[in-house]
Amino acid sequence: MSGKVIGVDLGTKRVKYYRKGDGIIFDQENCIAIENHNEIRAIGDEAAVMYGRTPATIKVVYPVTRGVIADVSAMELYFNSSFKDIYGKTRRAAGNNYIVALPTDITEVEKRAFPDLIMKSEVKPRNISLVDKPICVALAAGIEIMNAQGIMTVDIGADTTEIAVISLGGIVTSELLPIAGNKFDKSIISYIRDQCGLVIGKANAEELKKGIGGALSGKGLTMPVNGRDAFTGLPKRIDISSDMIYEAIKADLANITDDIKNILERVAPEISSDIIDTGIYVTGGSAQIADLDVLFGEATQLKINILNNPQDSVIAGLGKLIDDEDYMTLPYIYRQAGYYIKSANKNAKKN
Ligand SMILES: Nc1ncnc2c1ncn2[C@@H]1O[C@H](COP(=O)(O)OP(=O)(O)OP(=O)(O)O)[C@@H](O)[C@H]1O
Ligand SMILES: [Mg+2]
Repeated sequence: MSGKVIGVDLGTKRVKYYRKGDGIIFDQENCIAIENHNEIRAIGDEAAVMYGRTPATIKVVYPVTRGVIADVSAMELYFNSSFKDIYGKTRRAAGNNYIVALPTDITEVEKRAFPDLIMKSEVKPRNISLVDKPICVALAAGIEIMNAQGIMTVDIGADTTEIAVISLGGIVTSELLPIAGNKFDKSIISYIRDQCGLVIGKANAEELKKGIGGALSGKGLTMPVNGRDAFTGLPKRIDISSDMIYEAIKADLANITDDIKNILERVAPEISSDIIDTGIYVTGGSAQIADLDVLFGEATQLKINILNNPQDSVIAGLGKLIDDEDYMTLPYIYRQAGYYIKSANKNAKKN
């Protein structure tokens, strides 16, 4: 391949790029502030701060919803603008090769939206390849993924939790649940409104979750939060306990736990036996909820491995794949006509 190889993770919450030889070159909120319909006011972390604080002329958008591109034109603006920031001019990025990490359990049309976006963008790509996110997670966990050994990964991100079973470098089964960090934040907002009569914003709910949230009760922590009194309409500050946050997100965590158990019940006995030995690999930004390993461990009676720096697992695994020639047979080269198995496999065939 000529040109640089760039790994792309367009997450619901954050966008990350990895460039061969340089490591992670971009890591920002997947958020864009658009003024007068099509002018970029800000992208990334700068745009995220504007959320909920804009005048009528500025719209702040998260273009990816539930792991798929929901607002194509906003994502295009974001993509071009981010590469302009990295290269000074987008045309300097011309001729690079892109490998995009995608959720497995989405439709072909939803999948194609990712390479199509890069194809039509100002970065003028040479080749675009696609790889399943769980494969990246497994690489980040340091697993020898080409072995005939079943392993289970659980990636709890912002909008989705992707549960997958991998063996021989491929996905045996996977499921994308619409419950993750953003849903926890919503549950916290509802709980505090119903129980305390306080209306709080999304960012404050997230701060409470990160500060005192947990998968078990009895931590005995408190944290103040500002909001609007639901009855008087006036600004108000109250103390929230860790048990309240636990109560708020308990049902969401139970739903994820149930799905993990369901998938475990469905896999072949050979794979079950492998998973007993290795345990479950849990990652994604929301894997940082305190005591999640204890909750999952008690429910499944398996060892729970929470990855280090879980918010970076997909891009770190993509980086490993890009840096190691042996793994370069894993991505699928994208052609507009459909998906083809990487040409390293001589009988390149259409999926
Ligand atoms: N310390 C923390 N404790 C709990 N949750 C956290 C913590 N840090 C980040 N999060 C949550 O992690 C989520 C973001 O995770 P991640 O970066 O893996 O998402 P993403 O890859 O952009 O989204 P998705 O995989 O759903 O497309 C957010 O909901 C955020 O609130
Ligand atoms: Mg993710």
